[in-house]
Amino acid sequence: MPVPLMVANWKMHKTVPEAVDLVQDLLPQIREVRDVEVAVAPPYTALHAVGKAIEGTPVELASQNMFWELEGAFTGEISPGMLRDLNCRYVILGHSERRQYFGDGDGEVARKVNTALVEGLVPILCVGETLGERDYGKTFEVVQRQVLSGLDGSVVDRGDELVIAYEPVWAIGTGKTSSPGAAQEVHSHIRGLVKSLLGEETGRDIRILYGGSVKPDNIDGLMAMDDIDGALVGGASLDAASFARIVRFKGM
Ligand code: PGA
Repeated sequence: MPVPLMVANWKMHKTVPEAVDLVQDLLPQIREVRDVEVAVAPPYTALHAVGKAIEGTPVELASQNMFWELEGAFTGEISPGMLRDLNCRYVILGHSERRQYFGDGDGEVARKVNTALVEGLVPILCVGETLGERDYGKTFEVVQRQVLSGLDGSVVDRGDELVIAYEPVWAIGTGKTSSPGAAQEVHSHIRGLVKSLLGEETGRDIRILYGGSVKPDNIDGLMAMDDIDGALVGGASLDAASFARIVRFKGM
């Protein structure tokens, strides 16, 4: 079993002082936790300050996005080198909000995943079906397409080089979560895919996170599932006590 990973996605929330306050509130609440990896993804503007605040702690820094080019005339974009410079380890790519509002399609996501891997960042590749796709019974098909196209052209040698997050779009920010059993079915399908694509050992070691309205009161059931290796948490990560409770899920 890979070490569980809990990622706080703060989205477009928190000024620099607010972000530093939040992480400083969180750190003492998770100090005793062993054998769970924690990463926080503040907005770009707070990456540096939050990176300083977590220095010397086991908490890792994550970015919410990045561009696939290394540098150049790309107004408003952020490169992998800029993220590495701030000691970012992870980068969330293909989040459904990026796919929905900012034109990140499968092709763009694949280029970003590929660049992240080559540049030594760990992509957190997000996949998940919309409500309509689910109603039409297309969940497995959509998730499979997003995983395969997201990894198209990429080389992954070890399980710790890549994270996948399954986030049903209908569960994000809505208070609705997939039942643990239904989530496990999709996770198990993704596990099979990455094993056949990347080899048995690498596929086994890749963390597959669940995301979408993860809260202190549903995390324990989700983490009891075989192929759920952690969570990507939005709303509940904006409150230090709730996120700390998620990190300290029962059964760890
Ligand atoms: P949520 O967001 O926990 O607020 O549903 C999860 C995500 O979008 O990563």
